[in-house]
Amino acid sequence: MNRSQPREPQFRRVVVACDHGGLALKDEVLDMLGELGVEPVDLGTYTSDSVDYPAYAGAAARRVAGGEAEAAILICGTGIGMAIAANKFPGIRAATCSEEFSARMARAHNDANVLALGARVIGAGLARELVRCFCTTGFEGGRHARRVDAIGAPQRGECGS
Ligand code: RB5
Repeated sequence: MNRSQPREPQFRRVVVACDHGGLALKDEVLDMLGELGVEPVDLGTYTSDSVDYPAYAGAAARRVAGGEAEAAILICGTGIGMAIAANKFPGIRAATCSEEFSARMARAHNDANVLALGARVIGAGLARELVRCFCTTGFEGGRHARRVDAIGAPQRGECGS
């Protein structure tokens, strides 16, 4: 496939949340989603006051797990805390990405439904491209579906060996 060609968005609605460390990128992310034809739902935070990222990751993860949105984009200082917190929720597959290959593979191979970005790691232009990659890349399925299903095994009580 020619990667320079625009692709259709894979999601209709995406929730966006950040902490104070991620606030600088949130408007870029919301704007890019609109440009892609994806409905953004802004869950805050809205000011630079210090807040705790797990609360925002949880609010977004619950909406994705509950089917209110198909995916989420979470932004904190590094993208790490948001992803760790979101991944505690059943059905959530969050990936922290700071280059395009990982953002594309997170969708194609891991069926990631949360993209986590670090506003102290990447700039606005790269953030927009990561949002584009994440939203326009489909899951490849096949052998990857078996592996993605296996990711959920511990939360189903199937601890294995
Ligand atoms: C907040 O200072 C910072 O710790 C947070 O945004 C994030 O980087 C955590 O992973």
